[in-house]
Amino acid sequence: MAIRDVLKMGDPRLLAVARPVTDFDTPELQALLSDMHDTMRALNGAGLAAPQIGVDLQVVMFEVNGNPRYPEVESVPFTVLINPRLTPLSDEQEMGWEGCLSVPGMRGQVPRYTALRYQGVDPAGQPIDRTVSGFHARVVQHEVDHLLGILYPMRIVDLRHFGFTDTLFPGQNLQDD
Ligand code: NI
Repeated sequence: MAIRDVLKMGDPRLLAVARPVTDFDTPELQALLSDMHDTMRALNGAGLAAPQIGVDLQVVMFEVNGNPRYPEVESVPFTVLINPRLTPLSDEQEMGWEGCLSVPGMRGQVPRYTALRYQGVDPAGQPIDRTVSGFHARVVQHEVDHLLGILYPMRIVDLRHFGFTDTLFPGQNLQDD
């Protein structure tokens, strides 16, 4: 178990397409998940993808704890999602602010599908199949993008809505994903 360094935008490993996991219930996968969890918690992240710690595998995790000061941010249960597949439920998208542990100290407005189904497997290889909307859907899209070599600034439509967190949202303690 260890807190790992998170790669920052500019590192070519963040631009690679990750490989699917083929072996489940292995000590190597458990060690990876443990390191990812420790790292996400230590940095107060809302999510983390394996490529962000330099591991070329289709593994993401996320968790959002509701904060009574910001009721618009809904809770998302802790989830480990492996080999994910996303299916939007419609073409409808909405804009929302995102941050990323690989782009520290910044936030940008990104369009995401409003509602989607996500499928994949958990660390034991058991299927996950959920239909979600809103912030939960946004977090999943952000994390799965990491497995495709896409960082959220690459999806910003209007760069006027991209900037430093402490300037855009002074006094708020916002999470990165
Ligand atoms: Ni991110």
